[in-house]
Amino acid sequence: MDKIKIIGGKQLNGKIYISGAKNAALPLICASLLTPDTVTLTNMPMLSDIKSLNALLTLLGTQIDEFDDFLDGHPTKTYSYRTQEATSLIAPYDYVRKMRASYYVLGPLLARYGHVELSLPGGCAIGARPMDIHLAALEQMGAKIEIRNGYVIADIDGRLKGADIIFKVASVGATCNILMAAVLAEGVTKIQNAAKEPEIGDLIDLLNDMGAKISGRDTSILTIEGVETLHGATHKVIPDRIEAGSYAVAAAITRGCIELINAQASTLQCPINILRQMGVDVTETENSLIVDARGKTLVGQDIMTDFYPGFPTDLQAQFLALMLTAEGASLITETIWENRFMHVPELMRMGANINIHGHASAIVRHVDKLYGAPVMATDLRASFALILAGLIAEGETIVNRVYHLYRGYEKLAEKLAAVGADIEVIHESDE
Ligand code: EPZ
Repeated sequence: MDKIKIIGGKQLNGKIYISGAKNAALPLICASLLTPDTVTLTNMPMLSDIKSLNALLTLLGTQIDEFDDFLDGHPTKTYSYRTQEATSLIAPYDYVRKMRASYYVLGPLLARYGHVELSLPGGCAIGARPMDIHLAALEQMGAKIEIRNGYVIADIDGRLKGADIIFKVASVGATCNILMAAVLAEGVTKIQNAAKEPEIGDLIDLLNDMGAKISGRDTSILTIEGVETLHGATHKVIPDRIEAGSYAVAAAITRGCIELINAQASTLQCPINILRQMGVDVTETENSLIVDARGKTLVGQDIMTDFYPGFPTDLQAQFLALMLTAEGASLITETIWENRFMHVPELMRMGANINIHGHASAIVRHVDKLYGAPVMATDLRASFALILAGLIAEGETIVNRVYHLYRGYEKLAEKLAAVGADIEVIHESDE
């Protein structure tokens, strides 16, 4: 298994190109199942999660073609997806277990074919991660749903029917799944308390380009007028706001200056405000964000995660690590996931001063120094927090279980090395 070795203490300066957003790309890929035509996605990140979902679509009968591309002077991938006719309507356990966003096939397959069998993903390191909101909404649209042998088996006679749906929680996954189900339903579907994350706006843009009729983008009430068929389209994936936020913290924690090319400041207003309140200079340009912490003494801030546009849970671990270097104490409260402080015990092994209260809050106090250590994390963002700690720690840090990072950070070591980090991937075969 690959590891990452970091020798801490380097100030990071330079430019980092922000890749296409993983959490936008995953539902976009599944939207291609709604049409027999070709859906082409550009600015796709090269990540293991994308490969895992592509493997599932291939199993379902999708023809996938991959092209090397060059966008804004940087190499990216373009993928085209064509599901003329699905050859299977089953998403098996081994695929969903690896990549829970595989559940995005549920809405599209049910809407187009009237039947789907999806292995329930179950919980993961950050929480229980139920699917009850997705399933209740599909039942309201007329689907018959059974849970058997760990699978959701969903059927519908004819087409799904439009319905008035109120989500009890503004779930990102349920909003995507029900949007993809409702676009081919008979009649009008209204989703109240829909999630407003930018990745949902990106999905709505693709679906509307494919011929769907969705209104209410960026609001919590979405109205979908069902259509009988959808056609192909070409779509550029939005930049990854969580990747941009993570590298913004890399600049701040090393008291360096990084320009994040292609970062969309409008999608990061809450984290940018926190950085500014801490004392970091953040400049928004037309196609980048410049994060400058050179010579700054930073002041700790309290953070509470929330649904968009609130502070993203996917940046909580990274900002928690940053607070270790800020003056005073910072209260970090996690409201979205019930088990998202798994980075804390590892950070404490590096010398961090953090007190966790219950499952939801952590008090982070300033430390003068962190010390390198072998560490491992149980999820993607927690792993990035350990990379950040390694960047400022004295001596050598070895981050194990790097496959978590491969799921969501394209060319992480290359990008950090290019701005001055002493970082190296140790491949299993090198050991
Ligand atoms: C998405 O997960 C992201 N994943 C997560 O990013 C992110 O942390 C999360 O949204 C919140 O922003 C992808 O986009 C692939 P939710 P998702 O449904 O859709 C509760 C990362 O690091 N809920 O919005 O699974 C749930 O328990 C990942 O890239 C129900 O109660 O999240 C949670 O408390 C990790 N019932 C809240 O809603 C349901 O049926 C938000 O979950 C569904 C969710």
